[in-house]
Amino acid sequence: MSDKSSSSKNWRPATLAIHGTGRLPKAHHAVSTPIMHTSNYYFDTAGEVEDFMREKGRGRVIREHEYARYGNPTQQECERKLAALEGAEKAVLYSSGMASVLLAIMTFMKPKGHIIFTGDCYRQTRDFAVNFLGKFGIEYSIVDPTADAIGAAIRPETNIIFTESPTNPYLRVLDIPAIVKVARQRNILTIIDATLATPYNIRPLDLGVDVVIHSATKYLGGHNDLMAGVALGSAALMTDLYKMQRMIGATPGPLTCFLLERGLKTFGMRMEHHNRAGLAVAQMLEAHPMIEKVWHPGLPSHPDHKIGMEQMTGFGSVISFLVKGGNAETRKFIDALELFLITPSLGGSESLVTQMSTMSFFDYPEEYRKSIGMVDNLVRLALGLEDVDDLIEDLKQALDRI
Ligand SMILES: Cc1ncc(COP(=O)(O)O)c(C=O)c1O
Repeated sequence: MSDKSSSSKNWRPATLAIHGTGRLPKAHHAVSTPIMHTSNYYFDTAGEVEDFMREKGRGRVIREHEYARYGNPTQQECERKLAALEGAEKAVLYSSGMASVLLAIMTFMKPKGHIIFTGDCYRQTRDFAVNFLGKFGIEYSIVDPTADAIGAAIRPETNIIFTESPTNPYLRVLDIPAIVKVARQRNILTIIDATLATPYNIRPLDLGVDVVIHSATKYLGGHNDLMAGVALGSAALMTDLYKMQRMIGATPGPLTCFLLERGLKTFGMRMEHHNRAGLAVAQMLEAHPMIEKVWHPGLPSHPDHKIGMEQMTGFGSVISFLVKGGNAETRKFIDALELFLITPSLGGSESLVTQMSTMSFFDYPEEYRKSIGMVDNLVRLALGLEDVDDLIEDLKQALDRI
């Protein structure tokens, strides 16, 4: 079988998502990667086991698989393509985005260390910091999503800066080179959850970030039908992450990996659509008399529009806005939508709508919820792949019904 794995590394994202950095030999010349539903992989002789273990100890791989908690062929293929897309030496795929977030933090946290998080972050990431980090003797700060606020929060014991960009739901875009600069001066590891950007719109490793994370449940999978996460970076950092991942078993199953690889085949086309549709809907909403305010980094009115234009090539299709009125008006609008499904998540084929105060933050005390911006008339849309004119018509008719 011919190996064309090193033919080009300058392909664009849509091509990298389909081919990685080139063609690798595949069993039976199959175009798609077979799903290996097996929990273990056998050896022919006891001597083969000895050879395998000995060479593994020397860091040399003489065969790929032994036990499914350590990975499967479809996972490996997804990791190869995701690493190519992100410009990473290596990727580690997980069973969920949160597995990648938590295991990255747990792999790199240090006793008596301090971790900086940025606010407006994914709720479960915040909850992990608030409810669990103290049990490990780790301190944390949650600061405004700006490079200045991060710089001001650094202490001598800070060893991780964990940020998201764009954030969720206010879509703040962080000045990544500024954060990397201050982190490098202090020898602090930078981890960025770039789920809302995807490697189509920004490649943080190229800007000096150490580890990039995505919930692959979102745009990378792209069809609202799988859960997965991925961490990407240098081979050395990924080796540490992989040790923890294979120990815990936060390994995605073979079917999940097949769906993810299949989703990646249309990644470029889907992201083009998401970027175009996101901007068109944001512009329509901003001009609508029933809307108080809109957040989308593609709008000049967004506080981080300038940074976004410098760093990103598109802004995706998550849009947050305030409906004029309160809880009653907001619910009337949401209930009148015909095409948008009321559910969390984003980046899939179906358009989704979320009233943030009820969907993701209902159990927070009202005062705290409001202090972090989760007011009752805040709505987040995650556009799908429907015709954008149909989505705009649906939004307009629902706003008319308030
Ligand atoms: C920015 C971000 N990070 C991480 C996650 C968690 O990913 P998952 O749901 O795949 O565990 C989410 C989920 O919504 C998210 O939006």
